[in-house]
Amino acid sequence: MGKEIRNQIGIITGAASGIGSAIALRLSEKGVKLALFDCDKSGLKKIKSLLSTECETYIVDITDEKEVAKWINKVGERFGKIDILINSAGITGETNIKSHEVNSDDLRRVFEVNFMGSYYTSKYVLPWMLKNNYGRILHIASISGKEGNAGMLAYSASKAAVIGMAKVQGKEYAEKGITINTLAPAVIKTAMVDALPNEQVNYMTDKIPMKRCGTLTEVADIATFIVSPECSFTSGFTFDLSGGRATY
Ligand SMILES: NC(=O)c1ccc[n+]([C@@H]2O[C@H](COP(=O)([O-])OP(=O)(O)OC[C@H]3O[C@@H](n4cnc5c(N)ncnc54)[C@H](O)[C@@H]3O)[C@@H](O)[C@H]2O)c1
Repeated sequence: MGKEIRNQIGIITGAASGIGSAIALRLSEKGVKLALFDCDKSGLKKIKSLLSTECETYIVDITDEKEVAKWINKVGERFGKIDILINSAGITGETNIKSHEVNSDDLRRVFEVNFMGSYYTSKYVLPWMLKNNYGRILHIASISGKEGNAGMLAYSASKAAVIGMAKVQGKEYAEKGITINTLAPAVIKTAMVDALPNEQVNYMTDKIPMKRCGTLTEVADIATFIVSPECSFTSGFTFDLSGGRATY
């Protein structure tokens, strides 16, 4: 019999909100034991109370490499292994701003969270995965990393960097039973999107052939497949979740 996802150990960053918390709930339903990383203490507490499997929460700023290393190694020691890493923590930074007006400090900050944060977590999780010749890493990127959203230089470029990193990492560990992929969602219906005026949401969904936002259920479904043992012959790839917008 092949590996089962039940009783695997997963780390999810950005798990206190939106996409990260939806994936945490779904993986817990599948029997995955979880370590949830976020800087939002109350959000983490709320999600933990909803989970049915063993779960540890860690208040971590993923831009702090030493903290990331310390807590990932604690998770590895506590559970004896790490099977899954999902990087969902992310920020948009300033938006609706042209490239020549971008504040360089804001650009650096967005790269620190979206790119360096995903790099640090993968850097310290990989030695644990190599011990078992098994692992699944999923970086949540964005369609903006493939297409470039005007007015969102920092966000789009940082997500393109994440996609580039997964292409490299996918090749480097391809013979070690470890897959590293990204997911590129278009706009997903989260509390943040619910709070926007209808006109703004329509502007975004107009670019999507299905003419609607993706749902958190749809994100959780595809993410669960990508990190499952069954998704074993795909690495370095960017999975699409854009309602038909991206066909490449
Ligand atoms: N919602 C969408 O439409 C959409 C579309 C494409 C991609 N994404 C990507 O999906 C991911 C999740 O998005 P979301 O909509 O759930 O966002 P969200 O704001 O609801 O959740 C992001 C979480 O990341 C945490 N976080 C931010 N900076 C952190 C840091 N330095 N250290 C630790 N935690 C930190 C926040 O506290 C928050 O809980 C992001 O990477 C985002 O770029 C979202």
